[in-house]
Amino acid sequence: MRGRAASECELIIVRYDTPSLMTWNARTYDGGFGYVSAHGAPLVDLLDPRPGERIVDLGCGTGVLTAEIASRGAHVLGIDGSPAMIEKALAQYPGLDFIVGDGRDFVVAQPYDAVFSNAALHWMGSEPDAVISSVREALAPGGRFVAEMGGAGNCAALTAAVSTAWREHGLPDPDLPWYFPTPAEYAGRLEKGGFVVRILEYFDRPTPLDECPNGAADWVRMFAGSLLHQLPAELIESLLRRVNELAAPALRRETGWMADYVRLRFAAVRR
Ligand SMILES: C[S@@+](CC[C@H](N)C(=O)[O-])C[C@H]1O[C@@H](n2cnc3c(N)ncnc32)[C@H](O)[C@@H]1O
Repeated sequence: MRGRAASECELIIVRYDTPSLMTWNARTYDGGFGYVSAHGAPLVDLLDPRPGERIVDLGCGTGVLTAEIASRGAHVLGIDGSPAMIEKALAQYPGLDFIVGDGRDFVVAQPYDAVFSNAALHWMGSEPDAVISSVREALAPGGRFVAEMGGAGNCAALTAAVSTAWREHGLPDPDLPWYFPTPAEYAGRLEKGGFVVRILEYFDRPTPLDECPNGAADWVRMFAGSLLHQLPAELIESLLRRVNELAAPALRRETGWMADYVRLRFAAVRR
């Protein structure tokens, strides 16, 4: 399928069949989970967008960071696999270009100076090399790939609580939808994929779930909603109650819930 022209001189070819993309609730994303983009500010600084540069924001969600990059004078194109996210981004930032597309095989007509991505690459883990290859093809030689994603061990207490609750309820092991690589693994993929890795950081980032009164259960509903599809409502309530009980000792503080995020942040340059 050919996507709509994002601007007069831009033609993007996007993948039509995107079976592994989960459904996002764009309406509640910025309210309860706005911390995802709020934590992206240092990544925009690492990108260091310059006036006039052409930049792709891959997995742009509702466009908050796309707008931040544009405010620094760059021409930004936000690409996301979720039509609901793109619809909200277009409504919030009508002056910016957004398009539905798949990180695993998007194609651009004119090369870009940089591809930026916050909290999205771990959702594209079924084909990480295809994502890296698409990004490389989208960049001019010397172009930057600057991104942050979940790293190995990300949300380990949360996901352990989910697996245990599922098992206790007699359900098969949940098919968790993420790819959280080690720094060595992802650096190897980048190098094999035609990039020179300039910076690679791997760090704990405990993250308050301030807008999630129901703690781990709210997090599961937003980020692992695909696991709940087709389960009866009473079973979902019981599962999520148990997830909260199991996760609480590790993640519940007097001040509220704290998710155990681990991040991989990198800046690489196209050879
Ligand atoms: C946690 S959100 C992050 C959104 C945004 N970058 C931010 O910082 O708020 C992850 C985004 O990745 C998108 N996504 C997941 N898989 C994708 C794929 N294969 N291609 C493009 N976007 C994808 C989702 O639709 C979602 O909007």
